[in-house]
Amino acid sequence: MNIILNILNQFLKKGRSIVILKKIVRRFSKNNFDKNQYKNWLDSNKSSLGKFLKKINHRLFIETKKESLKINDYANNRLKNIKVKLGGGANDMLLYFFVRYFKPKVVLETGVAAGFSSLSILKALKKNKYGKLYSSDFPYFRIKNPENYIGILVDKKKFPNWELKIEGDEVNIPKLISNINHIDIFHYDSDKTYKGKMNVYNLIKKKISNKSILIFDDVQDDKFFYEICQSSNLQYKIFKFKSKYIGVLGKIKSNEI
Ligand SMILES: C[S@@+](CC[C@H](N)C(=O)[O-])C[C@H]1O[C@@H](n2cnc3c(N)ncnc32)[C@H](O)[C@@H]1O
Repeated sequence: MNIILNILNQFLKKGRSIVILKKIVRRFSKNNFDKNQYKNWLDSNKSSLGKFLKKINHRLFIETKKESLKINDYANNRLKNIKVKLGGGANDMLLYFFVRYFKPKVVLETGVAAGFSSLSILKALKKNKYGKLYSSDFPYFRIKNPENYIGILVDKKKFPNWELKIEGDEVNIPKLISNINHIDIFHYDSDKTYKGKMNVYNLIKKKISNKSILIFDDVQDDKFFYEICQSSNLQYKIFKFKSKYIGVLGKIKSNEI
């Protein structure tokens, strides 16, 4: 009953009903692809993230591991008294390391939830001493007052270089990128449907180049990542993270593989 009331509450807020309806329709749309065959492709192309990061820069890998422990300790403490279930955190090590290593001016991410990814990116930007994070999210419409939990792990006062919008990717992304010339690092972790990913990819296309690094969470769910690997001439890497796969596209030099 509470869930229905929460959904209704969000549904009545300006602009939210369209996003909620699209999410429901996409969730139940048929996804016609051979999951097993695709998993074989992912497995035969996957690399170990630890080995990969160590090989690129061992010192930075050690820094990343230390920072990851701090982030996870802090997050577990902060979240332990929160009764609601928020979306699972992204791979903070990969994000922290990439931001430290590639030193981006502009990072764009979709999917904030509690903010593991946002906090990792912002901490790395702070260490770099420059760069801005633009984040797009949409409230979890099943819980009460979901807006209060978005980015709860990030102390906004400490990170003035963070811009967060919460009206859904299709509304947020055009606004967030309107003043950006180039996206240096992009992290996708929001709407997990093929359509959701493709829509966002089409929105950001004009602001990425072969110098951008694109990271996609949960690439195992559909063929989106496979298709963009085939259609772009960028190198790609696949990492297994828990039971999921992360796909990375971009100028990863051959000695970094
Ligand atoms: C897996 S969680 C993100 C986890 C986050 N990256 C982290 O590391 O903590 C997915 C998030 O995407 C949001 N989301 C789902 N559909 C969305 C959409 N169409 N636009 C923007 N955000 C969306 C969800 O509400 C949720 O907050």
